[in-house]
Amino acid sequence: MRDTFDILLLPGDGIGPEVVGAAREVIDAAADHFGIEVRYEERRIGGTAIREEGEPISEETLEAASASDSVLLGAVGHPDFDNAPVRPEAGLLGLRKHLGAFANLRPVVAIPALIGSSPLKREVVDGVDVLIVRELTGGAYFGEKEEGEERASDLSVYTREEVDRVARVAFEAAKRRKRRVTSVDKANVMATSRLWRRVVSEVAEDYPEVELDHVLVDAAAMYLVQAPRRFDVVLTENLFGDILSDEAAMLPGSMGMLPSASLGKPGSPGIFEPVHGSAPDIAGEGKANPYATILSAAMMFRHSLGRPDVAEAIEQGVSVALEAHFSTPDLGGKKTTEEVTKAVSKWVAAGEGVM
Ligand code: NAD
Ligand code: IPM
Ligand code: MN
Repeated sequence: MRDTFDILLLPGDGIGPEVVGAAREVIDAAADHFGIEVRYEERRIGGTAIREEGEPISEETLEAASASDSVLLGAVGHPDFDNAPVRPEAGLLGLRKHLGAFANLRPVVAIPALIGSSPLKREVVDGVDVLIVRELTGGAYFGEKEEGEERASDLSVYTREEVDRVARVAFEAAKRRKRRVTSVDKANVMATSRLWRRVVSEVAEDYPEVELDHVLVDAAAMYLVQAPRRFDVVLTENLFGDILSDEAAMLPGSMGMLPSASLGKPGSPGIFEPVHGSAPDIAGEGKANPYATILSAAMMFRHSLGRPDVAEAIEQGVSVALEAHFSTPDLGGKKTTEEVTKAVSKWVAAGEGVM
């Protein structure tokens, strides 16, 4: 098993530095406990990079990402740049494209200790365990853009190869889960969706043990809050996946609970980041929920660093802290980012019995 890792930290904007700092503390506790060495390099991305370096992500930072084992990212985005010609978000999109991180895994799990935090009824949320597989480097995000005073357009393009490779990630994941893939598209209107549906159906032939169904995105948005247990793996394109994952965040109860892994070709560094944004409304107040980023660090150990044992310890630390009511205001609790982080780190470092 590997025991030395080079991690690039990209805290970014708003609450990004607070939640990445929290995850780093938990990783350090895990490193002590498991006798592994984690070496960090820290760089700028987003609004802070525009301010200090003149661009949302520099060439050197992209190179540092390629040279790392994994990237742990906070969030980008700041209202100061809402009307700027170059936006902080461009840094994140550039990084995803640069690393070829085409498959974005966003697990949505109803944690028993948090069922009461969801705005949805207990009987709807109880037992939810969905994996959203979002295509991350294609579609309207990356097509040709035109932006004029009177006319604007975002071209959405998908190729067979782009759909095929992300579909395989979804089917492989489903094989290890409840063996069901729901492909979400808008095939009644969009040409890209019709290609998507055809290619996904073809890929499904290679996975006879996995059941496939196709659902239109508008209906999927409804099922997600009406009957979320009908889903196992949800496979969808970039824009739909972005929207559906924020909706799905209400199943565990807060944006602050959803981690993610963005993966490319085997062996290339992954990007691990919370699904939420920079939350400028609460930045600097010690209120940010760090669980999504801590759980993203766990995904990093599982999916990129080949250390599922470390991932499990971090995930257990999170469960134990939540059961002991360490929750931030977004979950209805009163704990600070720091208190939550200390609780998880203590448990991870000791392995048991501190709460
Ligand atoms: P947001 O996710 O930042 O915030 C939405 C709401 O959820 C806010 O009320 C916020 O306080 C709350 N929230 C989010 N994360 C939280 C956490 N960890 N703890 C407690 N509460 C949390 O979305 P937004 O307000 O629409 O966007 C703000 C900025 O973030 C924009 O510039 C947007 O582009 C950017 N953004 C970045 C990412 C990313 O870096 N991956 C993701 C989404 C949005
Ligand atoms: C996300 C974010 C990003 C996206 C933005 C900040 C570019 O919303 O990671 O979900 O739309 O992909
Ligand atoms: Mn989003």
